[in-house]
Amino acid sequence: MASTQKVLYLEKAKGAFVMSDAPILKPGPGQLSVKVISAALNLADWKIQAYDFFITKYPAIFGGDIAGDVAEVGKGIEGFSKGDKVYVLLPVHVSVPLAGPNACSSFFRGWYSNEFAGFQQYTLVPADIVGKIPSNINYDQASTIPLAFTTAAFGLLGPAGTALDPTLEFKPNKIITYASAHHSNFLRSLGVTHVVDQGEVPASGFTEAAKEIAGAPIKLVFNLVIDGEAAGVCLDILNRDGQLADVNGEAKGSGNGRKVYLIFGNLHPPNNREFG
Ligand SMILES: NC(=O)c1ccc[n+]([C@@H]2O[C@H](COP(=O)([O-])OP(=O)(O)OC[C@H]3O[C@@H](n4cnc5c(N)ncnc54)[C@H](OP(=O)(O)O)[C@@H]3O)[C@@H](O)[C@H]2O)c1
Repeated sequence: MASTQKVLYLEKAKGAFVMSDAPILKPGPGQLSVKVISAALNLADWKIQAYDFFITKYPAIFGGDIAGDVAEVGKGIEGFSKGDKVYVLLPVHVSVPLAGPNACSSFFRGWYSNEFAGFQQYTLVPADIVGKIPSNINYDQASTIPLAFTTAAFGLLGPAGTALDPTLEFKPNKIITYASAHHSNFLRSLGVTHVVDQGEVPASGFTEAAKEIAGAPIKLVFNLVIDGEAAGVCLDILNRDGQLADVNGEAKGSGNGRKVYLIFGNLHPPNNREFG
C-alpha cells in the first residue's frame, strides 16, 4: 500500500480548496483506515467554507459523509476485514454541550480534524460507528445516507436528552407535512397522511391548515427547515404540552410547557454515541 495520498485542503478560513500530498495514517486501536470511494457534499462542508465555524486549525480537510473500502484494520476490532464496503459519518471530534436556555437542549459543537475527514484518499474512522453498505446500493448512494439518516433518526427516535421524549408513544393518527406538491407521492409512501402544498398555502397559513386537518391537539412537530419563519410556525401549531424537534440550532426556548429539542445529526457526542 502506498504511504502518501492526495488530500483536498481548505487553506485558510473562507479560503480556497487546494490539492496536496499527505501521509496515509495507520489506524490506532479501535480504528479503521478506509479508502474513500465516494464523498458526499455535507451541508456543513460548504457552510464552513462560506461562514467559518467549527474549524479551529487550518489548513483543514473537510468531508463529512463517505463510503469506501476498509484498507486496514486497527487492533482490537472484530467484525471488519480489509475490503469490506463501509459508510460513515464524520467528523468525530466534539466538545462539551452548549449551555442553552432549554433544559432539554443538547447541542454540541463539533469540528473536523484532518485524520478523520472525507476529502482525501484514505481516512481514519472509529470502527464503532461504521456501517456496512447493503448490497442493493452503490458507494455514491451510500455516501449520501449518514448525515440525513442520522438527523432524521435523532429527530424521530432519539434518546432522552437529545430528541423527543422516548416515553412518548409515537403512534400518530395523522402525519401532516408542509411540502411542495411534487413530493406528495413520496411522502405518502412513507406514511404521511396529509400534505399541505407550500406552493398554495403560505407558511403563515400552515398553522391554521394543520390544526384544521388534525382536529385534535398536535403533540409532536419535527421542523427540518432552517429559515426565520419555520420554527415559529411550528411552535404555533403545537399544543401546550407538545414537543418540537428542530434542526435549527438557533431555535429558542419553550413556552407554556412546550419543549424544544435541538437536533444535532452527529453520532459522536458521548450521549449520542450509543444510539449511533
Ligand atoms: N441540525 C443538524 O444536525 C442538521 C443536520 C442535517 C441538516 N440540517 C439542516 O436541515 C435542513 C434540511 O437539510 P436537507 O439535507 O434535507 O436539505 P435539502 O436536501 O436542501 O432539502 C430541503 C427540503 O426542504 C424543503 N423546503 C425548503 N424550504 C421549505 C419551506 N419553507 N417549507 C417546506 N419545505 C421547505 C425543500 O423543498 P423543495 O424540494 O420543494 O425545494 C426540500 O425538500 C438544512 O437547513 C440543513 O442545514 C441540520
